[in-house]
Amino acid sequence: MNERSPLSTGVTPRFSDESLKEIETIFKRYPADRRQSAVMPILHLAQREFGGWLSRESLDYVAGIVNMPPIRVYEVATFYTMYNLRPVGMYHVQACTNISCWLCGSDQVMDALRRKLKITPGHTTEDKRFTLAEVECLGACVNAPMMQINDDYYENLTADKVVEIIDRLP
Ligand code: FES
Repeated sequence: MNERSPLSTGVTPRFSDESLKEIETIFKRYPADRRQSAVMPILHLAQREFGGWLSRESLDYVAGIVNMPPIRVYEVATFYTMYNLRPVGMYHVQACTNISCWLCGSDQVMDALRRKLKITPGHTTEDKRFTLAEVECLGACVNAPMMQINDDYYENLTADKVVEIIDRLP
């Protein structure tokens, strides 16, 4: 199985009532005969609700909701790196190493993260608190180098700031 293949858990997820209401709101953004256009925000919602990642069953479930063949949903989910296709730690640390961040010191940021977390990109700490990922541009080049931890951006980083940020996480 390749790195970006969806994993199966054997468990079929179900959205909460609150998420189902949100899905109705998402569908209203698109023409009634274009439910498939909502696949990305609904995948995002699924990832948030189902433990921070998308199992094969979650992808199939979303495919049913947007009325798309599952293979099309797998194509979307495996193309975009913001969809996690395997479990991640409580904190998903994504460090950008693309050109602007690299020119401004992302190597030092990544080294600091590796040393602090004692893992390399693509891995999760034994206590399941942290998953480290190296990612492409996250659109915050103006304040490079940067990283994202769950939904928050941390910008203008240095090696010392990285350690401080990790230490401050509850
Ligand atoms: Fe890092 Fe754009 S290159 S945010």
